[in-house]
Amino acid sequence: MSTAHRDFLQITDFSPAELNELFVLAEQMCAGAYKKKPLAGKTLAMIFMKSSTRTRVSFEVGTYQLGGHALFLSPRDVQLGRGEPVADTARVLSRYVDGIMIRTFAHSDVVELAKHAEVPVINGLTDLVHPCQVLADILTIRQTFGTHHGKRVAWIGDGNNMANSWINAARVLGFELVLACPETYSPNAEFLSKASANGNVRLVRDPAEAADGADVINTDVWASMGQEEEQAIREKAFKNFTVDAKLMKRANKDAIFLHCLPAHRGEEVSADVIDGPQSRVWDEAENRLHIQKAIMAALMGGEKL
Ligand code: CP
Ligand code: NVA
Repeated sequence: MSTAHRDFLQITDFSPAELNELFVLAEQMCAGAYKKKPLAGKTLAMIFMKSSTRTRVSFEVGTYQLGGHALFLSPRDVQLGRGEPVADTARVLSRYVDGIMIRTFAHSDVVELAKHAEVPVINGLTDLVHPCQVLADILTIRQTFGTHHGKRVAWIGDGNNMANSWINAARVLGFELVLACPETYSPNAEFLSKASANGNVRLVRDPAEAADGADVINTDVWASMGQEEEQAIREKAFKNFTVDAKLMKRANKDAIFLHCLPAHRGEEVSADVIDGPQSRVWDEAENRLHIQKAIMAALMGGEKL
């Protein structure tokens, strides 16, 4: 196994030029124009300490489409779930596989895994960030508007892992991001202060202010995985943060609605919005496959960025 490798733990791990190459590669993959099998003979280990539909299926199918094989590892089955150290898991898996995708709780576990792995590590969601999802979302914006440059994205709701990745994306790519979060549910302060220096990222408290003139309205569940017991208290805190038809009207006429899914209709989004003509959520879900194939082709398959 080679030790010269790159990880994808956060959007800021890639330069703007590299991100652009990833989008171009993903667009080729989406169009069916990419015929190579850069993962032939290679294996991706997929560690899931939390549930998943999209991440699991898109990584597994994507690996297969690139000629490789994916292993699904849940805490019920692997010793990591019984307390084997992350570092030991990283060392051992590196002797068998060519890449590791992990979804877990503490971001520090992913950093630890990457520190001790001798193969690329890809972040499939932590409590802190969800970088693959936000790249898929930006791919969706590019497919809709032709570019992400000069676009205004509104984040309405919890300052969670998705919000944090949007902040990182706006910092690297320079588009405008306005986040509306309740006082006690702000995004990561360090990410926000780093991004705010460029003047294109703003945190407000009023969803209407964020939605005004937006090209993209984006939201997520009010209680993320691991916060299930907070559901009732969060429902109260977020009661004015539902993305409904009235809020969508404040955005630009051709604005799109995005949601990483799974969604709770009647909570963070009304059914008429997520199931309506401005919603791009199914393309967005499909784009997980294309962008992750691009990421794997680059990190595990030798595709140049
Ligand atoms: N959006 C997303 O990551 O979905 P899953 O939790 O189903 O993987
Ligand atoms: N913020 C959500 C995203 C799910 C894909 C969660 O962490 O549960």
